[in-house]
Amino acid sequence: KPVVLSGCQPSGQLTIGNYMGALKQWVSMQDDFECLYMLVDLHAITVRQDPKNLYEACLDGLALYLACGIDPDKSTLFMQSHVPEHAQLSWVLNCYAQMGELNRMTQFKDKSAKNINNINVGLYAYPVLQAADILLYQADKVPVGEDQKQHLELTRDIATRFNNLYSGDVFTLPDPYIPEFGARIMSLQEPDRKMSKSDTNPNNFIGLLEEPKKLTKKIKRAVTDSDEQARIYFNPEEKPGVSNLLTLLSLATGKSIDALVPEYEDKMYGHLKGDVADAVVALVEPIQQKFHTLRNDRAYLDSVMKDGAAKASEKASVTLQKVYEAVGFIAKP
Ligand code: AQP
Repeated sequence: KPVVLSGCQPSGQLTIGNYMGALKQWVSMQDDFECLYMLVDLHAITVRQDPKNLYEACLDGLALYLACGIDPDKSTLFMQSHVPEHAQLSWVLNCYAQMGELNRMTQFKDKSAKNINNINVGLYAYPVLQAADILLYQADKVPVGEDQKQHLELTRDIATRFNNLYSGDVFTLPDPYIPEFGARIMSLQEPDRKMSKSDTNPNNFIGLLEEPKKLTKKIKRAVTDSDEQARIYFNPEEKPGVSNLLTLLSLATGKSIDALVPEYEDKMYGHLKGDVADAVVALVEPIQQKFHTLRNDRAYLDSVMKDGAAKASEKASVTLQKVYEAVGFIAKP
């Protein structure tokens, strides 16, 4: 089976954007691919985290992966920091990535603009660690939102460079796996930006663990577009707010946008928002119920992490050995 690898940062509470753009796809890929899903805690510290919050967010994230339907009997589920090969390969790849390439990464530009007091080397090298994550497992496919395409391109460039320099087949070149539609959920208040869990304005995102009442309130307060006739149609450029709501509704109900739009011909924004809120609540409620049971079972979560790390390490160590050999390191006697 082709190998699939992906992860989310435990840098806050996972959002409906993470669900629609990542988790939902991950769940659907489990039968046809060999899947590895992780929580990328090493990536999360590129932005300053409160240690207590990070600790809790890692456990929340793991329980949420499980509650959303990631099955540890089918997929390898682990914490990035539990598999030391990620940091080890990342160092090697740092020596094969060019500063010129990293300077062009738009996520670094965005994130450093938001964190001007902490533009650390880790934030800069973030895409190299991501390349290590992917290449360690010889992943064929990486399900990513549109926003991560550039990083995957860089991973391919680094892998090609490394392969060309050495024996030629150290790394598999990964392909992006981008869902056709709904790959990008936008912020509720600023719909020209993507929804992000670490947004400083909590009204911008819908957390998967938020209370239904709170969630509904946020959706009802979402920015809609102020044109003269408050018509409801899909056009992300002209109507970013309304189009984002339609996208959410479509993904939450499984109905296509084309089928939904006529239903709102004579209706007002308020109707649409009410329906979106109901659909999102119906989607997250069962996930939340499962989450709470799992989150209270620390022994089970520990066993999932332990098994996942062992399975992942077994695979990762093979690649790391190949890399160390290729560059000329002496194998530990
Ligand atoms: N708004 C989104 N719409 C669709 N997909 C999204 N993803 C993130 N936001 C959206 C997808 O979720 C996966 C994991 O993302 P991540 O947690 O590693 O980091 P991120 O992309 O930086 O997500 P956030 O929520 O914006 O995190 P912060 O705020 O900490 O930077 C990826 O596959 C991503 O495409």
